[in-house]
Amino acid sequence: MSDFIARRDDFPTLRGDDAPLYFDNACMSLKPQSVIDEIHNYYTTHPSCGGRSVHRYANQVSQKMTISRRRLSSFINSPTTEQVVFTKNATNSLNQIAKGLSWQEGDIVLTSDREHNSNLIPWLQLEQEQGVDHRVIPSLEDNSFDMETFEMMCADAGSKLKVVSLPQVGNLDGVEFPVKAAAKIVHDHGGLMVVDAAQSAPHMSIDVQDMDADFIAFSLHKMLGPSGMGTLWGKAELLDGLRTLSAGGETVISSDYDGMKWANSPHRFEGGLDNYAGILGTGAAIEYLSGMDMNDIHEHETKLNSILTEGVKDLHGISIIGPQSASKRGGICSMITEGFDAHELAILLDETAGIMVRSGMHCVHSWFRSRGYEDGSLRASFYFYNTEEEVRNFVDIFGEIHSALF
Ligand SMILES: Cc1ncc(COP(=O)(O)O)c(C=O)c1O
Repeated sequence: MSDFIARRDDFPTLRGDDAPLYFDNACMSLKPQSVIDEIHNYYTTHPSCGGRSVHRYANQVSQKMTISRRRLSSFINSPTTEQVVFTKNATNSLNQIAKGLSWQEGDIVLTSDREHNSNLIPWLQLEQEQGVDHRVIPSLEDNSFDMETFEMMCADAGSKLKVVSLPQVGNLDGVEFPVKAAAKIVHDHGGLMVVDAAQSAPHMSIDVQDMDADFIAFSLHKMLGPSGMGTLWGKAELLDGLRTLSAGGETVISSDYDGMKWANSPHRFEGGLDNYAGILGTGAAIEYLSGMDMNDIHEHETKLNSILTEGVKDLHGISIIGPQSASKRGGICSMITEGFDAHELAILLDETAGIMVRSGMHCVHSWFRSRGYEDGSLRASFYFYNTEEEVRNFVDIFGEIHSALF
């Protein structure tokens, strides 16, 4: 715990007495100095392309790209670095998977009933454009995963089951999905398992081999990295067969007027000049996280969530989405604020007390709208640099606002 407090000094926005209470980490994490320095260094000392030119600047970029990819690869326990593809974000990775696979009319895709739009819209688009049959797995009453119904739906899909795509942790409520057990069932039915790890990779240890997913997607900007950086990971044989959405420079070994020879992964998916500053900053972010115990991070965030949960759960007009116990919601606490607009509350919290939270539907419109919650919710989400004292302050201030307004 004291280790976490000492780390606050690594984050420029947390230094000083007027640091905000930053609780919007499920959207975007803050950045440590080492990541900022790496990006600054790229632009000031070797602002060049990687993987192409062979002068000094370019060589430095290429070498650092290799290091970033290696670090990411070992962070998720990938068998090879070639299976780690740099993308723009989790959305970009999920689109590459969905639109890179080949489809037949009637192929079935299953997702949960509380997907971020990034793991819903690509599949809905396939349904609209290619006749794919997208089906929704209903959750249990408390938003936990209904394994029994899921198994029945896989069996019902039979040989038409092509993809099951689930988040490892939901951004709506922080609830964890049993993706390893789900992957086993999907494989028994001949389907592919896609894991949206956008909310898990920053907060818990990820082992792609143990999970046995076929593809996973996540964003670096939620885990200390630069904005506009993500990762796609896939099993080697599946990446070999995946059609690239980014045909162009770097994606081929050679080309003629009438044809080309595709490059293998990762290059086939990384067309055009890249976000080199982002890729190098990613290396610094993963180096930072690799120096920490991901289980400690998860435990710390759950502790913070239990303080918040205890402080707000009995307030009139406030209901927490998902299981009531914080132990089942990691570092996310999403509250329906009956009768009060979540955006207005979020603005009030920031303006009066420097508290930054997320408000609205968090890109999970389908869940909110199907339940008639048109105002969305107020979501606090933690990272390791948040402290118990910050959360207690939030509880006090939220309590004061509540007594004045509700
Ligand atoms: C569960 C989940 N999946 C996907 C995404 C999309 O991430 P990005 O916007 O970085 O592509 C998010 C972003 O909040 C998310 O929480």
